[in-house]
Amino acid sequence: MKTWLKALPKAELHLHIEGTLEPELMFELAARNGVTLPYASIDEVRAAYEFSNLQSFLDLYYQGMAVLHTEQDFFELAMAYFDRAHADGVVHVELSFDPQPHLLRGLEPSVPFEGLERAMREAEQRYDISSALIMSFVRDRSAEEAMTVLEQTRAWHHRLAAIGLDSAELGNPPEKFAAVFERARELGIPRLAHAGEEGPATYISGAMDALGVCRIDHGVRCLEDPALVERLKSEQMPLTVCPLSNVYLKVVERLENHPLPGLLEQGLKVTLNSDDPAYFGGGMLNNFIACHDAFGWDQATFRQLARNALEEAFMNDERRSRLL
Ligand code: ADE
Ligand code: ZN
Repeated sequence: MKTWLKALPKAELHLHIEGTLEPELMFELAARNGVTLPYASIDEVRAAYEFSNLQSFLDLYYQGMAVLHTEQDFFELAMAYFDRAHADGVVHVELSFDPQPHLLRGLEPSVPFEGLERAMREAEQRYDISSALIMSFVRDRSAEEAMTVLEQTRAWHHRLAAIGLDSAELGNPPEKFAAVFERARELGIPRLAHAGEEGPATYISGAMDALGVCRIDHGVRCLEDPALVERLKSEQMPLTVCPLSNVYLKVVERLENHPLPGLLEQGLKVTLNSDDPAYFGGGMLNNFIACHDAFGWDQATFRQLARNALEEAFMNDERRSRLL
């Protein structure tokens, strides 16, 4: 089954590129850029990856990404990810990045944009992996700051597939960003948001109503509201579910308790994704294998999950029909 899952053409729709930073590269970039890390060794970094909730992960995630200083750093980060994604049988990736922490450290917007895009072009040539870029706003920072970043990055908007909303969910409901997402709608940019990961089901309906999203990242808490489930089903709203992430961040205690089988039984449009593979036990293939081990799904189920992602991907139709 592992060989079959590896060969299955997979599209990854929920991936934070800063969450692909492995400790080895973190140390290399820290040395190159003169950044002092609060760890003595790579093993010590890995040992620190014990999370009690989303916030305890985010603290390390933002600290880790501070080693990224140049276009070349972003290029190497993304290429290292593409190498592993190719080995996992991934054929399409939608990578999101958080511009705010990088801009707040003094980087120009061109640094992440140009570095990531060079890697995306290289991945297409080297591996025939197609990709799309998503710019995500940090929801525990102000809506005014997000609006400023949206305007400040106008020169790169034509290269974005979508904007997203991530980081600390509880206490930062989607409505906080209604004006920013309305501005993105006026500018013709598709919109996504994390919702229902740690936050309640009302954040999922809020993201649909106040932000006009075409996809929900996570969404696993929707089962708490049967009317919402009906709505998600009738609209066939894609949910980019991240099984191992949910275990590592204690959204569920064990994968066997994950609502994934229930989401599928309800007829929801689910996809499987890795979220932050360097922090959560590996990439797409590990997520697929873990689901096989936990739920005993057959090939038809995995084929449907992979098909859902290809159908919902920001990808040209000619490539989509070739892959489907
Ligand atoms: N940023 C990176 N990973 C995230 C997650 N799982 N939830 C919210 N924000 C994130
Ligand atoms: Zn995420």
